[in-house]
Amino acid sequence: MAKTVTFVGTKGGTMKTACSLSVATVLALQGKRVALVDCDPQGSSTRSSATLEDDGEGGVRPIRTGRVPDALTAPPHLVPLAPIEEAGGELLLYRASMSLAGATTDQIREHIERAKQNVDYVVVDTMPVMGAPTFGTILAADLVVVPTDTSHDSREQLPDTLEVVRQVRPDILVRVVLTKADGRERLTREAIAELQNDFAREVYGVSIPVSAAAKNAGAEFAPSVLVCQGEKVADAYHALGALIAKDLAGVRQ
Ligand SMILES: Nc1ncnc2c1ncn2[C@@H]1O[C@H](COP(=O)(O)OP(=O)(O)O)[C@@H](O)[C@H]1O
Ligand SMILES: [Mg+2]
Repeated sequence: MAKTVTFVGTKGGTMKTACSLSVATVLALQGKRVALVDCDPQGSSTRSSATLEDDGEGGVRPIRTGRVPDALTAPPHLVPLAPIEEAGGELLLYRASMSLAGATTDQIREHIERAKQNVDYVVVDTMPVMGAPTFGTILAADLVVVPTDTSHDSREQLPDTLEVVRQVRPDILVRVVLTKADGRERLTREAIAELQNDFAREVYGVSIPVSAAAKNAGAEFAPSVLVCQGEKVADAYHALGALIAKDLAGVRQ
């Protein structure tokens, strides 16, 4: 049975989409079959990689033509990402329909259960709201990851987010990953110290660094881990993917 991780949070812009897209890509680069389920009605994570094509030089570039079928009604679309195929992996994209915002918890849960068939991992991107659809993703998951950027806003919302996750699934494994980290900035050092102090059990030992190229990749909806190869941000995503795979391997289903 597929192991499932969902990226959640109440604040937009904390890199839920960027992390889910790159982590799904990292797992696929390990030679695994991965389903990326986009449960944000804005559909950024799948709009994105669904429209990537091989640039003929081992990299990828986004194209604008592909369309991902509605996951609730159609089979998943297979993305031809050359590095993933070379690794023997696959990345399947399931995109939720625009009506998703009104979907019930059970509908979303069932949607993800369906995506679990014939894959090793399911990676879920959610909307920045702790509502019914996001609860459905938590109920279907083995691990919840809360990306948190260095801003005060993001950190202030974290305790409430974790509490809601535990109300939905008291037994679920929850992790926090710091994003947009810049070691030269006071805010980042403050955030690391605070997270290590207040969430010692939850916080991952790796942070995703701030990166101009990754930011642009985000705007182009391409996985940073492929676009920024050789950069610190790509190394960080590989490390995060490994930690998530390890956590998922330890979860009994
Ligand atoms: N490593 C990075 N450093 C700085 N900005 C980034 C990085 N990766 C992504 N971004 C940008 O951060 C913004 C929010 O990311 P996104 O993944 O869409 O957040 P969310 O899904 O949580 O709303 C996007 O504009 C994206 O381009
Ligand atoms: Mg998003």
